[in-house]
Amino acid sequence: MQQTSSVRLISAIAAVGGLLFGYDTGVISGALLFIKETWTLSAFEQGWIVSSVLVGAILGAVFSGNLTDRLGRKRIILLTAMAFFAGSLATALARSPLELMLYRGLIGFAIGIASYTVPLYISEIAPDDKRGALVSLNQLAITVGIVLSYLIDGAFAQIEHGWRYMMGVGVVPALLLAAGMLFVPETPRWLISRSRTDQAKEALCRIYGNCDVNGEIEKIRGGMLHEEQSSFRELTAGWMRPALLVGIGLMFIQQATGINTIIYYAPTIFQLSGFESEVSAISATVGIGIINVLMTIVSIRLLDRLGRKPLLYIGLWGMIISLLVLGGAFFSGGSGGMLKIVSVASLLVYVAAFAVSLGPICWLVISEIYPTQIRGLAMSVATLANWSFNLIVALTFLPLIEFLGTAYTFWGFALVGFWALWFCRVKVPETKGRSLEEIENSWRQANKSR
Ligand code: BGC
Repeated sequence: MQQTSSVRLISAIAAVGGLLFGYDTGVISGALLFIKETWTLSAFEQGWIVSSVLVGAILGAVFSGNLTDRLGRKRIILLTAMAFFAGSLATALARSPLELMLYRGLIGFAIGIASYTVPLYISEIAPDDKRGALVSLNQLAITVGIVLSYLIDGAFAQIEHGWRYMMGVGVVPALLLAAGMLFVPETPRWLISRSRTDQAKEALCRIYGNCDVNGEIEKIRGGMLHEEQSSFRELTAGWMRPALLVGIGLMFIQQATGINTIIYYAPTIFQLSGFESEVSAISATVGIGIINVLMTIVSIRLLDRLGRKPLLYIGLWGMIISLLVLGGAFFSGGSGGMLKIVSVASLLVYVAAFAVSLGPICWLVISEIYPTQIRGLAMSVATLANWSFNLIVALTFLPLIEFLGTAYTFWGFALVGFWALWFCRVKVPETKGRSLEEIENSWRQANKSR
């Protein structure tokens, strides 16, 4: 009982990083409408204010991987919290569109780092049989952050320069994260990988609330007989390549099945399907955000019981079917009530299916399949892929609708879903209930028998 409550509390503190990820990506959708009133912005400038976060996130993932392995997980999350704080304050006070874009880039940099260091941190402190649920607290926090950003956008919409408050609110969770991280321990696995066994014992003792930890230390150390250093050479070693491919493939699937066209453009899609007023389009969007939160909770309850792969199949089928139906509704050119009902219903099913599967599981699996010594670097590569595919989809979605039409665009995402079913069946290992060390060893065994 004691063990569960302290590891839960520590995981929840780290997950505030996920809340910042969700809040700071979601907040721009509403804020942009008001930023346009402060300065006259061209479509190009608007595009950059929105995308600078994604570019920042790509850079954050690129530059931090190695440092996460060298300096430790806790220190990097703490530094990230400070960057979130500085970025939120600076964007709220920005004096020109260029400044705003640069400061949003700084926030993006922090998001890029937090997006993988939080699941990494939690996976290294969690007991094997609860790892799925605990790591996915991060995804839950992301979805809560997205809904909060919609609500806070709504709350400040009537105030002059309201967008500055919308951006500035981000300092609160940033401070909470920084303060919280001062009190949590470094992960025992990272400490052991640096031969700091005494500190690792102390950390385990705090996490489990029980200081009889020699068995656990031996178990972790036993799994680390191999002496990898955090470097690109180790990362691309023969036995690691399939694992690297799984990480990049999962991130491709998470983004190229189109989730962020919904998260970033839901009001636009609702308007295309016949919702005239902005208020009704935005309310429907809040509804989507809430389903995203609720179904993530369902996933958290199932991950460690059903396993990762069955949930991936269920979610992918749900996403494929709803995308086919949505495309069909636009294709048949149905108008008025019918198209509205079908588009709302299929988007809800789509988001629900994403939330039980690709949402939490992609971040979870990449936190489980790499060896401790190079986990930071390997995860940062998968994370780089995630943000790069995210940027490509976000930039091409509206042009695709113009050139291919709405129906074929959604059917294109469904096609990626079919490929994903194959990829998950053939390439992705089941990680439920296995220790991180066991998972690492199975890649080595597979390589030997090849
Ligand atoms: C994805 C984000 C997405 C969010 C939606 C995350 O797992 O990485 O791109 O916006 O889920 O809930």
